[in-house]
Amino acid sequence: MTNARWMKCCVILGAMALLAGCFERPPVDAVQRGFRGTGMDQIYNPRSVQAQAAINGLPPDTPPMPAVGPTAGQTFQNVKVLNDLSVGEFSRLMVSITAWVAPQQGCTYCHAGNDMASDALYTKVVARRMLQMTQHINADWKSHVADTGVTCYTCHRGQPVPAQTWTNGPVQKAANAGNKAGQNSPLPTNGMTALPYDPFTPFLQQANNIRVVGGEALQNGNRISIKQTEWTYGLMMHMSESLGVNCTYCHNTRSFADWETSTPPRAVAWYGIRMARDLNTSYLDPMAATFPAARLGPGGDSPKINCATCHQGAYKPLYGQSMLPNHPELAKVRSVMATVSPAAAAPATAGGSSAAVLFAVGSKAVSDDGTKALAPVIDALKADATAKVTLSGYHSASGDTATNEELAKQRAFAVRDALQAAGIAPERIVLEKPQVAEANVAGEDPRARRVEVAVMK
Ligand code: HEC
Ligand code: HEC
Ligand code: HEC
Ligand code: HEC
Repeated sequence: MTNARWMKCCVILGAMALLAGCFERPPVDAVQRGFRGTGMDQIYNPRSVQAQAAINGLPPDTPPMPAVGPTAGQTFQNVKVLNDLSVGEFSRLMVSITAWVAPQQGCTYCHAGNDMASDALYTKVVARRMLQMTQHINADWKSHVADTGVTCYTCHRGQPVPAQTWTNGPVQKAANAGNKAGQNSPLPTNGMTALPYDPFTPFLQQANNIRVVGGEALQNGNRISIKQTEWTYGLMMHMSESLGVNCTYCHNTRSFADWETSTPPRAVAWYGIRMARDLNTSYLDPMAATFPAARLGPGGDSPKINCATCHQGAYKPLYGQSMLPNHPELAKVRSVMATVSPAAAAPATAGGSSAAVLFAVGSKAVSDDGTKALAPVIDALKADATAKVTLSGYHSASGDTATNEELAKQRAFAVRDALQAAGIAPERIVLEKPQVAEANVAGEDPRARRVEVAVMK
């Protein structure tokens, strides 16, 4: 089993015993990506590649407007996200989002009549949250979207509803025929296989472990089951289909679990799973009451995001072309969003009680110096029982980002554990996402490897 298409072929073969079903014309191209003999080839069908190229062009755009003159916040009545854009930047963005999301419907898709300030239409309320979500993806999920980032067009492609979304599957009651657990329903979501058709709820909404290889031989403590394996494979089929790649794009199939022999895109995919989960739980799910009933799933939940929502069959959405140079306003977190990113706006510290705990290269152990640096912070927290403390792990800009981020996270955990050991309650400790150190801090500078600790009133 080396690739998705092969698995599909096996299904067709088994069902129809018809060899001809396996060969597509014109012949497919194979591209070797791994070492010779590892079988890490990618299979491309020229017809699908051609169809893909057609939907991955960029829409026409205009150059950015200057950030001068009065701001949208000063000029308009009901602007909550884009307040610090200039009126020129704001108006241009309104024209762009109309082209990206509602080109047929126009401004009135989100605006009720001539009263632009009114929030009467749910589409405007959703669009405002989508503006925040887009900024959040571009600012806080660089571990996945890099500097390429996304705009509304990445998902919407000129449609009010993105082509690929999902909702929780219908709840299946155990009837006489038994509970199918979502199986034997070949749908595009599971690559037309008999695997569970909703592998999204457990992994892209809930945070279940994507593990198949058990760590223990005996039942005691080993929760890896055939059912869990099937969910995992269902998700993997979806990931392959969404990116238009085979399993070997990410795995050396000698061992699916082994990270050492996996390809770099697998680490990017790992962050993609976490990002999709974050977007669904922080943005889409809470909007269930905002969407009209017709947009909700059978269980009353919001339509949600999976890999296909952005990727739509391409290994990188829009083949990795970035629209952000023309839309810097969507690239960084501004105004009200600044509270979400500690790097953009340093939190106010109480009585100067902040500290930087430095770490040795590759180490996640809090040193004696680190313990000393934490002492005044612990004192301040004990003096003010209502104050909270935020921890942000920084790492150098050099080396492998995924490894660095994981290390930054582990270091933040180590500082958290040290604070807890000193008697600080867990709910007073707020962990922030790992940050890349400032460009002027070289990789060798110990300040690049730090956890910043700040007490907040
Ligand atoms: C996809 C939805 C959407 C479309 C289409 C859209 N807008 Fe908006 N518009 C918004 C949102 C959301 C806000 C509020 C932004 C904020 O809170 O930062 C807004 C705010 C405005 C405001 C500020 C009104 C006020 O006084 O508060 C103006 C003016 C405006 N839009 C003009 C336009 C024009 C002109 C068009 C068509 C070219 C357009 N919009 C198309 C979503 C949309
Ligand atoms: C990561 C993907 C993604 C991005 C980026 C994105 N959206 Fe959405 N959007 C969705 C999903 C998913 C839905 C829910 C679709 C449904 O109703 O079935 C949605 C729904 C909407 C709706 C409601 C449509 C309707 O008719 O119910 C509006 C309006 C909207 N988005 C505007 C925007 C705007 C404006 C932007 C850019 C600032 C944007 N979106 C960026 C994924 C995205
Ligand atoms: C785009 C990259 C990508 C593709 C393509 C992909 N996988 Fe994965 N796979 C991952 C990632 C990432 C994980 C780990 C997920 C996690 O830990 O959250 C994973 C985990 C797994 C696991 C669990 C390993 C364990 O630790 O127990 C199996 C089995 C697996 N994949 C099989 C497949 C199969 C079969 C295919 C093809 C149908 C496939 N994968 C395609 C990225 C990919
Ligand atoms: C919000 C939109 C969005 C979603 C959702 C998304 N991706 Fe991505 N993904 C991107 C962007 C943008 C890039 C390009 C980043 C770059 O240029 O390096 C990318 C790149 C990747 C890459 C790197 C490809 C390469 O060859 O380097 C992989 C692998 C990937 N995504 C897998 C996934 C998987 C798996 C999922 C679902 C769990 C997913 N993505 C969900 C936007 C998204």
